[in-house]
Amino acid sequence: MKIAILTGGGDCPGLNAVIRAVTKKAILDHNAQIIGIEDGFEGLIHNRHRKLDYEQVSGILTLGGTILGTSNIANPYKYPVKQGKKIVFKDLSTQVIQNLKKLGIDSLICVGGDGTLSIAYKFYQKGIPVVGIPKTIDNDIRGTDVSFGFDTAVHIATEGIDRVHTTAQSHHRVMIVEVMGRHAGWIALHAGVAGGGDIILIPEIPYDINIIAKLVKSRHKKGKRFSIIVIAEGAKPSGGDITVKKTVKDSVEPIRLGGVGFVLGNQLEQITGIETRTVVMGHLQRGGTPTSFDRILGTELGSKAIDLIKSKKFGHMVGLQMNSFVPVPLETVAQGARLVPLDHSLIKSACSVGTCFGNGLKS
Ligand code: F6P
Repeated sequence: MKIAILTGGGDCPGLNAVIRAVTKKAILDHNAQIIGIEDGFEGLIHNRHRKLDYEQVSGILTLGGTILGTSNIANPYKYPVKQGKKIVFKDLSTQVIQNLKKLGIDSLICVGGDGTLSIAYKFYQKGIPVVGIPKTIDNDIRGTDVSFGFDTAVHIATEGIDRVHTTAQSHHRVMIVEVMGRHAGWIALHAGVAGGGDIILIPEIPYDINIIAKLVKSRHKKGKRFSIIVIAEGAKPSGGDITVKKTVKDSVEPIRLGGVGFVLGNQLEQITGIETRTVVMGHLQRGGTPTSFDRILGTELGSKAIDLIKSKKFGHMVGLQMNSFVPVPLETVAQGARLVPLDHSLIKSACSVGTCFGNGLKS
């Protein structure tokens, strides 16, 4: 067996645990050869790869990032190429297939979020034996209850909330903590509940600034002279729009979110007259060593991906559903992001302890 592995999209704690598990299991159980593709699909387009042996993946379990590198720009179906002063997008998928054939690859493991796995699905449709592993701190991949990286991100965001808590109390301020998650509110919901946020704002529940201001003022009157607001980067006011930080033109997903915490903070300070500060957790949530949960999940997923290859279950990713690892068709993942359902148990429980979701929702 000759297996290639690539990590695509944004980096994520636990990627190295996956690479280690895939390589070690493939070598120990199947005496297979593992080829690490560099920088996601970029490496498949430009033929950049290296052989991974047992020693090379030894000692990487606790490392953040990915030893293979990644790219959230390289889409072989829409690859940006400079033509004079202009950038044009080209379909280089045939080049990728030729490169895989030249390398003598029997199967390809793609570790990534919905963007990477959707591209993987297209290659599967073109006859490449592909297996997927879900990766994202956002936890928004369909077909799996949880993706590795999420636990670490929640852990870091919660620590951030804990830290602003004490300074908010001391200065009698409103502190807003903006967390990542793209268009899904999983990180905000979980870190918000874990950190005891008074108000949690997620993209799935558009917020009303007047409801938030009323609650902040009433807390102040009652003697709780500080408030903690946890806001997802994709949150938006009812009737309003998301806050875009920048557009990365040649990216698979050009829109980068960010800054809604500052927008909310300015408005809130004006309405309430209470000093308000915003902290953006940003890429801290993606960096550094993975939690034990993510190391374990990464190891399980890597090992199960080799099982899928062995049983020739291509065109699938390994999903975790109700505590069992199951093959999930990549087609499911390509259908778009998994958002927080409005009837989610954690929303109900948070409401029942008095947490506000910015829209008057009650338990
Ligand atoms: O998908 C992971 C993620 O960290 C999102 O939460 C965030 O919106 C985005 O990636 C940031 O992307 P970049 O690293 O390109 O700024």
